[in-house]
Order: sequence, then C-alpha cells, then structure tokens
Amino acid sequence: MSAKSDQYARQAEEWTEKAYADATAYLAHRADLVASLGPLLVPGDELLDLACGDGGLGELLLSRGFRYRGVDATPEMVTQAQRRLGDRAPIEIGDLNDYAPPAPVAATSVFRAIYYARDRQAFFEHVATYTEKKLVFDLNPRQYRPDDVVADLRAAGLRHVQLRPFFVPQTVALPRIVSAGARALERSGPLARLALRLRFTYLVAASR
Ligand SMILES: C[S@@+](CC[C@H](N)C(=O)[O-])C[C@H]1O[C@@H](n2cnc3c(N)ncnc32)[C@H](O)[C@@H]1O
Repeated sequence: MSAKSDQYARQAEEWTEKAYADATAYLAHRADLVASLGPLLVPGDELLDLACGDGGLGELLLSRGFRYRGVDATPEMVTQAQRRLGDRAPIEIGDLNDYAPPAPVAATSVFRAIYYARDRQAFFEHVATYTEKKLVFDLNPRQYRPDDVVADLRAAGLRHVQLRPFFVPQTVALPRIVSAGARALERSGPLARLALRLRFTYLVAASR
C-alpha cells in the first residue's frame, strides 16, 4: 500500500464531514453544476463517480432523482460509501484508469482525483467509451494549465468543453449571504479569473 492510499484508508471514516467545512453547501453546489453544466442531466440518468471517496456526493445526486454508482481504489472508502448509501447505489472497488461500468452511463465524474490518471488523454479516451452525455471534473488552474487539459479532452473526442469557476470554499463555511455572493461571482468573467489565480477551482464539463 502506498503512503497516499494508506492516508486515504485512515481518513475514510467521516471523510466528507471532515474534508468540507460545510459539506452540504459544497456538495449541493457541486451536484447542481454536475446536472446543469454542459448537456443537462434528467432524473433517472445514471452518474458514475470515479474516486468517489465515501460517497458524500451520492447523497446529493440521489436526492435530485439521479442514479449514482461509485468506484474508489481504497477499500476503506468503499466500505464507508456502502455504509452511507446502502442499497440505494452500487459502490465498487476499482482503479479509475481501467474501470468500466457494466453498461454505459449518462455522466462520469472525477472530483479531486484527476491527478490519479496515469495518462490524462488515454484516461479521457477510456471514459468516452462508456459515457453518453458528459464527463465532469474539477480543475485547479494553478496545478494544470486549462489549455493543456482542454487539448487532451478534444484529442479524446470530447470537443465541447465548458469551464465554470467554482467558488464555494472547501475549508471555510461561509454565511449564507456571502456564499450567495461568491456563487454570483462565478459568472463575473475577469473578476472570476482573477480570483482563480489565487485559489478556487474550475468545474469542467466535456462532451462530444
Ligand atoms: C481527495 S479524495 C476525493 C474524494 C471525493 N471524490 C471527494 O471529492 O471528496 C481522492 C480519492 O481518490 C481515491 N483514489 C486514489 N487513486 C485512485 C485510483 N487510481 N482510482 C480510483 N480512486 C482512487 C482515493 O481513495 C480517495 O478516495
């Protein structure tokens, strides 16, 4: 077991509650954008969440009428996700680089885990073989150049790419009014790009 997977094994219990200062606000906004950015998801659509952790996002997607399937490489995370979601969603152990679902899914997501793709373009190509509507993931523009990632998506046949700033902070719980202001700032163009130089991430939706 690598040091990193050992770390996830130790953090699996209450991952969502500990990783996010306001887990409900953060994951609700993520779930809303998963559904609305790029091609729309409709109730009944199935989403495959690669590197799902303890399945915290699953709660929010199931409550919006979507079907949810989770996959994670850490057995302890899989156990926690199964405990959280019970028989409402299948959760399996797997590596995002080679996992394929039993049948095509409407959407695939990868949150805070795109760096586990061994070869990013090959990973996008693999996901495109079983994903009907879109791939959604988060992207830290200070870690990866968005232009490079967009080029890999297009080379994998995912030619329509939308980037949306995501301004709900992970480690700070904002009062509701401030949080609404931050979400409004996501659409502010140059101001949003300035904020992204310092912190926050993009949400990316890529489709054929
Ligand atoms: C930072 S956590 C993110 C969890 C969740 N997606 C979230 O946003 O809260 C990264 C997750 O990736 C999982 N992971 C790491 N390498 C992986 C791989 N090759 N395939 C699938 N999951 C992996 C870890 O076990 C861990 O649950």
